Amino acid sequence: MANISKTVQEKLTQWALAHLDGIFAVLRIVKPNVVFKDNALVTRFEDVTEVLNRDWIFKVPYAEKMDKVTNGSNFFLGMENTEQYTRDVSNMRIAARREDIPEIIKPFVDQTSEEILSSANGKMDVVQQLSRVVPTRLIGKYFGTPGWNETEFADAATIMFQYLFYPDDPEVEKKALQAAEQTRNYLDQAITDRKTNPVNTDDVLNRCLKLQAAGMPGMTDLDIRNNLIGLIIGAIPTTSKCAAVTLNHLFNNPELMVEAQQAARANEDDKLIQFVQESLRLNPFAAGIQRVCAEDYVVAKGTLRSTKIPKGARVLAATQSAMMDGRKIKKPKEFHLDRPAHNYMHFGFGLHTCFGQYINLTQIPGIVKAVLKQTNLRRVSEMKVEEPFPVSLEIEYGN
Ligand code: HEM
Repeated sequence: MANISKTVQEKLTQWALAHLDGIFAVLRIVKPNVVFKDNALVTRFEDVTEVLNRDWIFKVPYAEKMDKVTNGSNFFLGMENTEQYTRDVSNMRIAARREDIPEIIKPFVDQTSEEILSSANGKMDVVQQLSRVVPTRLIGKYFGTPGWNETEFADAATIMFQYLFYPDDPEVEKKALQAAEQTRNYLDQAITDRKTNPVNTDDVLNRCLKLQAAGMPGMTDLDIRNNLIGLIIGAIPTTSKCAAVTLNHLFNNPELMVEAQQAARANEDDKLIQFVQESLRLNPFAAGIQRVCAEDYVVAKGTLRSTKIPKGARVLAATQSAMMDGRKIKKPKEFHLDRPAHNYMHFGFGLHTCFGQYINLTQIPGIVKAVLKQTNLRRVSEMKVEEPFPVSLEIEYGN
Protein backbone atom coordinates (compact mmCIF):
# COMPACT_ATOMS: atom_id res chain seq x y z
CA MET A 1 0.00 0.00 0.00
CA ALA A 2 2.78 2.36 0.98
CA ASN A 3 4.45 1.54 -2.35
CA ILE A 4 1.29 2.26 -4.32
CA SER A 5 0.85 5.63 -2.67
CA LYS A 6 4.53 6.37 -3.28
CA THR A 7 4.11 5.56 -6.97
CA VAL A 8 0.97 7.68 -7.19
CA GLN A 9 2.76 10.51 -5.44
CA GLU A 10 5.73 10.25 -7.81
CA LYS A 11 3.41 10.20 -10.84
CA LEU A 12 1.53 13.23 -9.52
CA THR A 13 4.79 15.09 -8.93
CA GLN A 14 5.99 14.25 -12.44
CA TRP A 15 2.70 15.42 -13.91
CA ALA A 16 2.78 18.63 -11.90
CA LEU A 17 6.37 19.35 -12.93
CA ALA A 18 5.49 18.84 -16.58
CA HIS A 19 2.53 21.22 -16.30
CA LEU A 20 3.89 23.83 -13.91
CA ASP A 21 3.29 26.80 -16.22
CA GLY A 22 -0.38 25.89 -16.61
CA ILE A 23 -0.84 25.23 -12.90
CA PHE A 24 0.75 28.56 -11.99
CA ALA A 25 -1.38 30.37 -14.59
CA VAL A 26 -4.57 29.00 -13.02
CA LEU A 27 -3.40 29.74 -9.48
CA ARG A 28 -2.44 33.33 -10.30
CA ILE A 29 -6.11 33.87 -11.16
CA VAL A 30 -8.07 31.70 -8.75
CA LYS A 31 -5.80 31.33 -5.69
CA PRO A 32 -2.57 33.32 -6.02
CA ASN A 33 -1.35 32.48 -2.52
CA VAL A 34 -1.86 28.90 -1.36
CA VAL A 35 -1.32 27.53 2.13
CA PHE A 36 -1.46 23.76 2.52
CA LYS A 37 -0.47 22.21 5.85
CA ASP A 38 3.07 23.49 6.53
CA ASN A 39 3.63 24.68 2.98
CA ALA A 40 2.86 27.90 1.18
CA LEU A 41 3.09 28.88 -2.46
CA VAL A 42 3.18 32.48 -3.70
CA THR A 43 2.62 32.97 -7.42
CA ARG A 44 2.11 36.63 -8.41
CA PHE A 45 5.02 38.93 -9.23
CA GLU A 46 4.08 41.49 -6.60
CA ASP A 47 3.75 38.89 -3.84
CA VAL A 48 6.92 37.01 -4.78
CA THR A 49 8.87 40.26 -4.44
CA GLU A 50 7.09 40.99 -1.15
CA VAL A 51 8.26 37.64 0.24
CA LEU A 52 11.83 37.93 -1.04
CA ASN A 53 12.13 41.53 0.20
CA ARG A 54 11.24 40.57 3.79
CA ASP A 55 14.28 38.50 4.71
CA TRP A 56 13.63 38.91 8.46
CA ILE A 57 10.27 37.13 8.07
CA PHE A 58 10.98 34.78 5.19
CA LYS A 59 14.30 33.26 6.16
CA VAL A 60 16.70 31.13 4.15
CA PRO A 61 16.35 27.42 4.99
CA TYR A 62 19.84 26.28 4.00
CA ALA A 63 21.92 26.59 7.21
CA GLU A 64 21.52 22.99 8.35
CA LYS A 65 22.75 21.54 5.07
CA MET A 66 25.46 24.22 4.72
CA ASP A 67 26.69 23.08 8.14
CA LYS A 68 27.14 19.57 6.78
CA VAL A 69 28.78 20.70 3.56
CA THR A 70 31.26 22.95 5.40
CA ASN A 71 31.65 20.46 8.28
CA GLY A 72 30.43 22.68 11.09
CA SER A 73 30.26 26.19 9.65
CA ASN A 74 27.94 28.07 7.37
CA PHE A 75 28.20 29.94 4.06
CA PHE A 76 26.63 33.34 3.55
CA LEU A 77 23.71 32.06 1.49
CA GLY A 78 22.70 30.07 4.58
CA MET A 79 22.87 33.09 6.91
CA GLU A 80 20.35 35.61 8.10
CA ASN A 81 21.09 39.31 7.68
CA THR A 82 23.69 39.30 10.45
CA GLU A 83 27.07 40.97 10.99
CA GLN A 84 28.72 37.78 9.78
CA TYR A 85 26.66 37.80 6.60
CA THR A 86 27.72 41.37 5.79
CA ARG A 87 31.34 40.65 6.68
CA ASP A 88 31.58 37.54 4.51
CA VAL A 89 29.81 39.01 1.48
CA SER A 90 31.91 42.19 1.74
CA ASN A 91 35.16 40.23 1.93
CA MET A 92 34.28 38.16 -1.10
CA ARG A 93 33.19 41.25 -3.02
CA ILE A 94 36.64 42.71 -2.41
CA ALA A 95 38.20 39.46 -3.62
CA ALA A 96 35.87 38.98 -6.64
CA ARG A 97 35.32 42.44 -8.11
CA ARG A 98 32.94 43.78 -10.68
CA GLU A 99 35.79 45.25 -12.75
CA ASP A 100 37.18 41.72 -13.17
CA ILE A 101 34.31 41.01 -15.54
CA PRO A 102 35.64 42.99 -18.52
CA GLU A 103 39.29 42.55 -17.55
CA ILE A 104 39.51 38.83 -16.68
CA ILE A 105 36.21 36.98 -16.98
CA LYS A 106 34.90 38.01 -20.40
CA PRO A 107 38.19 37.48 -22.28
CA PHE A 108 38.69 34.12 -20.55
CA VAL A 109 35.16 32.85 -21.24
CA ASP A 110 35.20 33.96 -24.88
CA GLN A 111 38.62 32.49 -25.58
CA THR A 112 38.03 29.22 -23.72
CA SER A 113 34.65 28.65 -25.38
CA GLU A 114 36.02 29.35 -28.85
CA GLU A 115 39.02 27.07 -28.31
CA ILE A 116 36.82 24.20 -27.13
CA LEU A 117 34.53 24.56 -30.14
CA SER A 118 37.33 24.74 -32.67
CA SER A 119 39.16 21.74 -31.23
CA ALA A 120 36.02 19.58 -31.19
CA ASN A 121 36.04 19.11 -34.98
CA GLY A 122 32.45 19.98 -35.75
CA LYS A 123 30.70 17.67 -33.29
CA MET A 124 30.21 17.99 -29.57
CA ASP A 125 28.00 17.45 -26.57
CA VAL A 126 27.43 21.02 -25.39
CA VAL A 127 26.79 20.02 -21.77
CA GLN A 128 29.65 17.59 -21.27
CA GLN A 129 32.26 19.36 -23.38
CA LEU A 130 31.40 23.04 -23.08
CA SER A 131 28.74 24.44 -20.73
CA ARG A 132 30.06 22.75 -17.60
CA VAL A 133 33.69 22.88 -18.65
CA VAL A 134 33.90 26.66 -19.14
CA PRO A 135 32.68 27.62 -15.62
CA THR A 136 34.90 24.92 -14.11
CA ARG A 137 37.93 26.31 -15.95
CA LEU A 138 36.91 29.84 -14.98
CA ILE A 139 36.98 28.76 -11.33
CA GLY A 140 40.43 27.32 -12.02
CA LYS A 141 41.79 30.49 -13.59
CA TYR A 142 39.91 33.22 -11.71
CA PHE A 143 39.62 31.67 -8.24
CA GLY A 144 42.92 29.80 -8.53
CA THR A 145 41.29 26.47 -7.67
CA PRO A 146 41.09 24.20 -10.74
CA GLY A 147 40.07 21.14 -8.71
CA TRP A 148 41.73 17.75 -8.39
CA ASN A 149 40.19 16.60 -11.69
CA GLU A 150 38.05 18.80 -13.93
CA THR A 151 35.17 16.36 -14.43
CA GLU A 152 35.05 15.18 -10.84
CA PHE A 153 35.24 18.74 -9.53
CA ALA A 154 32.22 19.74 -11.67
CA ASP A 155 30.37 16.56 -10.60
CA ALA A 156 31.09 17.38 -6.94
CA ALA A 157 29.70 20.92 -7.28
CA THR A 158 26.63 19.58 -9.07
CA ILE A 159 25.71 16.94 -6.49
CA MET A 160 26.29 19.38 -3.60
CA PHE A 161 24.01 21.87 -5.35
CA GLN A 162 21.31 19.23 -5.72
CA TYR A 163 21.64 18.31 -2.04
CA LEU A 164 21.39 21.92 -0.86
CA PHE A 165 18.55 23.19 -3.01
CA TYR A 166 16.32 20.23 -3.89
CA PRO A 167 14.08 17.99 -1.77
CA ASP A 168 15.74 15.55 0.62
CA ASP A 169 16.99 12.32 -0.93
CA PRO A 170 19.23 9.98 1.08
CA GLU A 171 21.16 8.81 -2.01
CA VAL A 172 21.89 12.39 -3.04
CA GLU A 173 22.85 13.31 0.52
CA LYS A 174 25.34 10.45 0.76
CA LYS A 175 27.06 11.35 -2.50
CA ALA A 176 26.96 15.09 -1.74
CA LEU A 177 28.59 14.70 1.65
CA GLN A 178 31.36 12.57 0.14
CA ALA A 179 31.83 15.22 -2.53
CA ALA A 180 31.86 17.92 0.15
CA GLU A 181 34.61 16.15 2.07
CA GLN A 182 36.71 15.73 -1.06
CA THR A 183 36.18 19.38 -2.03
CA ARG A 184 37.03 20.61 1.49
CA ASN A 185 40.22 18.53 1.53
CA TYR A 186 41.19 19.80 -1.89
CA LEU A 187 40.59 23.45 -0.97
CA ASP A 188 42.40 23.10 2.39
CA GLN A 189 45.40 21.70 0.54
CA ALA A 190 45.22 24.38 -2.17
CA ILE A 191 45.28 27.10 0.52
CA THR A 192 48.18 25.45 2.36
CA ASP A 193 50.12 24.98 -0.90
CA ARG A 194 49.60 28.61 -1.87
CA LYS A 195 50.91 29.76 1.49
CA THR A 196 53.89 27.40 1.37
CA ASN A 197 54.78 28.18 -2.25
CA PRO A 198 53.39 31.65 -2.98
CA VAL A 199 52.74 32.55 -6.62
CA ASN A 200 52.32 36.01 -8.02
CA THR A 201 48.94 35.46 -9.73
CA ASP A 202 46.12 37.95 -9.38
CA ASP A 203 43.33 35.52 -8.53
CA VAL A 204 40.60 35.35 -5.90
CA LEU A 205 42.59 32.97 -3.67
CA ASN A 206 45.62 35.25 -3.61
CA ARG A 207 43.41 38.26 -2.92
CA CYS A 208 41.81 36.39 0.00
CA LEU A 209 45.27 35.58 1.38
CA LYS A 210 46.26 39.23 1.07
CA LEU A 211 43.19 40.21 3.09
CA GLN A 212 44.17 37.58 5.64
CA ALA A 213 47.73 38.96 5.85
CA ALA A 214 46.26 42.43 6.41
CA GLY A 215 44.36 41.09 9.43
CA MET A 216 40.88 41.30 7.86
CA PRO A 217 38.34 39.58 10.14
CA GLY A 218 36.59 36.58 8.58
CA MET A 219 39.56 35.57 6.45
CA THR A 220 41.12 32.65 8.30
CA ASP A 221 42.06 29.65 6.16
CA LEU A 222 38.81 27.99 7.22
CA ASP A 223 36.74 31.07 6.36
CA ILE A 224 38.39 31.33 2.94
CA ARG A 225 37.74 27.67 2.27
CA ASN A 226 34.07 27.93 3.24
CA ASN A 227 33.56 31.03 1.12
CA LEU A 228 35.17 29.31 -1.85
CA ILE A 229 33.16 26.11 -1.47
CA GLY A 230 29.89 28.07 -1.48
CA LEU A 231 30.86 30.05 -4.56
CA ILE A 232 32.03 26.95 -6.43
CA ILE A 233 28.73 25.14 -5.73
CA GLY A 234 26.77 28.20 -6.89
CA ALA A 235 28.79 28.69 -10.05
CA ILE A 236 29.18 25.46 -12.02
CA PRO A 237 25.87 23.56 -12.41
CA THR A 238 23.86 26.78 -12.63
CA THR A 239 25.89 28.24 -15.48
CA SER A 240 25.91 24.94 -17.32
CA LYS A 241 22.14 24.54 -17.14
CA CYS A 242 21.40 28.12 -18.19
CA ALA A 243 23.69 27.98 -21.24
CA ALA A 244 22.31 24.60 -22.38
CA VAL A 245 18.68 25.63 -21.85
CA THR A 246 19.16 28.87 -23.79
CA LEU A 247 20.68 27.05 -26.75
CA ASN A 248 17.96 24.43 -26.64
CA HIS A 249 15.27 27.10 -26.72
CA LEU A 250 16.88 28.63 -29.80
CA PHE A 251 17.07 25.22 -31.52
CA ASN A 252 13.36 24.80 -30.78
CA ASN A 253 12.61 28.16 -32.42
CA PRO A 254 14.48 28.38 -35.73
CA GLU A 255 13.46 31.97 -36.51
CA LEU A 256 14.91 33.10 -33.15
CA MET A 257 18.00 31.01 -33.84
CA VAL A 258 18.66 32.90 -37.08
CA GLU A 259 18.36 36.26 -35.32
CA ALA A 260 20.54 35.11 -32.41
CA GLN A 261 23.22 33.82 -34.79
CA GLN A 262 23.26 37.16 -36.58
CA ALA A 263 23.66 38.93 -33.22
CA ALA A 264 26.48 36.56 -32.23
CA ARG A 265 28.36 37.07 -35.49
CA ALA A 266 27.97 40.84 -35.15
CA ASN A 267 29.18 40.67 -31.52
CA GLU A 268 25.98 42.29 -30.29
CA ASP A 269 26.58 41.23 -26.71
CA ASP A 270 23.74 43.25 -25.16
CA LYS A 271 21.29 41.62 -27.53
CA LEU A 272 22.65 38.18 -26.64
CA ILE A 273 22.05 38.95 -22.95
CA GLN A 274 18.40 39.59 -23.83
CA PHE A 275 18.24 36.29 -25.72
CA VAL A 276 19.51 34.54 -22.60
CA GLN A 277 17.19 36.39 -20.21
CA GLU A 278 14.13 35.73 -22.32
CA SER A 279 14.97 32.07 -23.11
CA LEU A 280 15.42 31.45 -19.39
CA ARG A 281 12.18 33.25 -18.51
CA LEU A 282 10.33 30.77 -20.72
CA ASN A 283 12.49 27.80 -19.53
CA PRO A 284 13.44 28.81 -16.01
CA PHE A 285 16.34 27.47 -14.02
CA ALA A 286 13.99 26.55 -11.14
CA ALA A 287 10.33 26.94 -10.15
CA GLY A 288 11.15 29.28 -7.32
CA ILE A 289 13.08 30.17 -4.21
CA GLN A 290 12.54 28.51 -0.84
CA ARG A 291 12.06 30.29 2.43
CA VAL A 292 10.81 29.49 5.95
CA CYS A 293 8.28 31.83 7.53
CA ALA A 294 9.59 33.03 10.93
CA GLU A 295 6.30 34.53 12.20
CA ASP A 296 2.64 34.58 11.16
CA TYR A 297 2.52 36.96 8.21
CA VAL A 298 -0.22 38.22 5.91
CA VAL A 299 0.96 38.44 2.34
CA ALA A 300 -0.76 40.91 -0.05
CA LYS A 301 -2.47 42.52 2.93
CA GLY A 302 -5.51 44.65 2.12
CA THR A 303 -6.21 42.89 -1.19
CA LEU A 304 -8.75 40.22 -2.05
CA ARG A 305 -5.94 37.67 -2.29
CA SER A 306 -4.47 38.49 1.14
CA THR A 307 -3.41 35.25 2.83
CA LYS A 308 -1.99 34.44 6.24
CA ILE A 309 1.18 32.36 6.05
CA PRO A 310 1.70 30.64 9.40
CA LYS A 311 4.95 30.67 11.36
CA GLY A 312 7.09 27.68 10.39
CA ALA A 313 5.60 27.24 6.90
CA ARG A 314 7.98 26.35 4.09
CA VAL A 315 7.33 28.91 1.40
CA LEU A 316 8.04 28.67 -2.30
CA ALA A 317 8.31 32.13 -3.85
CA ALA A 318 7.55 30.99 -7.39
CA THR A 319 9.84 33.16 -9.51
CA GLN A 320 8.91 31.05 -12.56
CA SER A 321 5.30 32.09 -12.08
CA ALA A 322 6.16 35.72 -11.27
CA MET A 323 8.04 36.07 -14.56
CA MET A 324 4.87 34.93 -16.43
CA ASP A 325 2.51 37.23 -14.52
CA GLY A 326 0.73 39.35 -17.12
CA ARG A 327 -0.06 41.98 -14.50
CA LYS A 328 3.62 42.99 -14.54
CA ILE A 329 5.08 41.36 -17.65
CA LYS A 330 3.65 42.53 -20.98
CA LYS A 331 2.46 39.64 -23.20
CA PRO A 332 4.29 37.14 -21.01
CA LYS A 333 3.91 34.15 -23.34
CA GLU A 334 5.71 35.96 -26.16
CA PHE A 335 9.45 36.19 -26.71
CA HIS A 336 10.57 39.83 -26.64
CA LEU A 337 14.09 41.19 -26.58
CA ASP A 338 13.22 44.62 -25.19
CA ARG A 339 12.03 43.75 -21.70
CA PRO A 340 13.52 45.74 -18.80
CA ALA A 341 15.96 43.95 -16.46
CA HIS A 342 13.55 44.15 -13.51
CA ASN A 343 11.18 41.75 -15.29
CA TYR A 344 13.65 38.94 -14.63
CA MET A 345 14.20 37.03 -11.39
CA HIS A 346 16.57 34.30 -12.56
CA PHE A 347 19.15 35.31 -10.00
CA GLY A 348 16.82 35.81 -7.07
CA PHE A 349 15.68 39.00 -5.41
CA GLY A 350 16.34 40.92 -2.20
CA LEU A 351 19.07 40.21 0.35
CA HIS A 352 20.36 36.98 -1.15
CA THR A 353 20.34 38.04 -4.81
CA CYS A 354 22.93 35.95 -6.65
CA PHE A 355 26.52 36.92 -5.89
CA GLY A 356 27.38 35.98 -9.47
CA GLN A 357 24.59 37.91 -11.21
CA TYR A 358 26.90 40.08 -13.31
CA ILE A 359 29.28 37.21 -14.01
CA ASN A 360 26.29 35.22 -15.24
CA LEU A 361 25.24 37.85 -17.73
CA THR A 362 28.72 37.66 -19.22
CA GLN A 363 29.52 33.98 -18.91
CA ILE A 364 26.23 32.47 -20.14
CA PRO A 365 25.99 34.67 -23.27
CA GLY A 366 29.73 34.11 -23.84
CA ILE A 367 29.31 30.33 -23.98
CA VAL A 368 26.14 30.61 -26.07
CA LYS A 369 27.76 33.09 -28.47
CA ALA A 370 30.68 30.81 -29.26
CA VAL A 371 28.21 28.10 -30.33
CA LEU A 372 26.00 30.48 -32.29
CA LYS A 373 28.96 31.75 -34.29
CA GLN A 374 29.47 28.32 -35.85
CA THR A 375 28.33 27.84 -39.43
CA ASN A 376 25.85 25.15 -40.43
CA LEU A 377 24.91 24.66 -36.76
CA ARG A 378 22.47 21.86 -36.03
CA ARG A 379 21.16 19.92 -33.05
CA VAL A 380 21.76 16.19 -33.42
CA SER A 381 19.34 15.00 -30.73
CA GLU A 382 16.96 16.45 -28.16
CA MET A 383 18.51 17.85 -24.98
CA LYS A 384 18.59 15.12 -22.31
CA VAL A 385 17.80 16.06 -18.73
CA GLU A 386 18.35 14.02 -15.59
CA GLU A 387 16.45 16.21 -13.16
CA PRO A 388 17.40 18.77 -12.15
CA PHE A 389 20.18 19.24 -14.72
CA PRO A 390 20.63 18.79 -18.48
CA VAL A 391 23.17 16.05 -19.12
CA SER A 392 23.49 16.14 -22.89
CA LEU A 393 22.87 18.41 -25.87
CA GLU A 394 24.59 17.11 -29.00
CA ILE A 395 25.34 19.45 -31.84
CA GLU A 396 27.19 19.45 -35.17
CA TYR A 397 28.56 22.40 -37.06
CA GLY A 398 30.80 23.32 -39.97
CA ASN A 399 30.72 21.25 -43.15
C1 HEM B 1 24.47 31.06 -13.89
C2 HEM B 1 23.40 30.87 -13.31
C3 HEM B 1 23.08 31.17 -11.88
C4 HEM B 1 21.81 31.14 -11.40
C5 HEM B 1 20.53 30.82 -12.18
C6 HEM B 1 21.89 31.51 -10.01
C7 HEM B 1 20.79 31.65 -9.19
C8 HEM B 1 20.83 32.13 -7.91
C9 HEM B 1 19.67 32.40 -7.10
C10 HEM B 1 18.22 32.22 -7.55
C11 HEM B 1 20.11 32.83 -5.90
C12 HEM B 1 19.22 33.23 -4.72
C13 HEM B 1 19.07 32.07 -3.77
C14 HEM B 1 18.14 32.42 -2.64
O1 HEM B 1 17.77 33.60 -2.48
O2 HEM B 1 17.75 31.50 -1.89
C15 HEM B 1 21.54 32.83 -5.94
C16 HEM B 1 22.35 33.19 -4.90
C17 HEM B 1 23.70 33.07 -4.93
N1 HEM B 1 24.49 32.73 -6.02
FE1 HEM B 1 23.86 32.32 -7.87
N2 HEM B 1 23.20 31.69 -9.66
C18 HEM B 1 23.97 31.51 -10.78
C19 HEM B 1 25.34 31.61 -10.86
C20 HEM B 1 26.17 31.91 -9.81
C21 HEM B 1 27.60 32.09 -9.89
C22 HEM B 1 28.43 32.06 -11.18
C23 HEM B 1 28.04 32.29 -8.62
C24 HEM B 1 29.43 32.52 -8.11
C25 HEM B 1 30.36 33.13 -8.74
C26 HEM B 1 26.88 32.27 -7.75
C27 HEM B 1 26.91 32.43 -6.38
C28 HEM B 1 25.79 32.70 -5.61
C29 HEM B 1 25.85 33.03 -4.21
C30 HEM B 1 27.10 33.10 -3.37
C31 HEM B 1 24.56 33.29 -3.78
C32 HEM B 1 24.12 33.72 -2.39
C33 HEM B 1 24.13 35.22 -2.32
C34 HEM B 1 23.78 35.73 -0.93
O3 HEM B 1 23.46 34.94 -0.04
O4 HEM B 1 23.87 36.95 -0.74
N3 HEM B 1 25.78 32.05 -8.50
N4 HEM B 1 21.97 32.41 -7.18
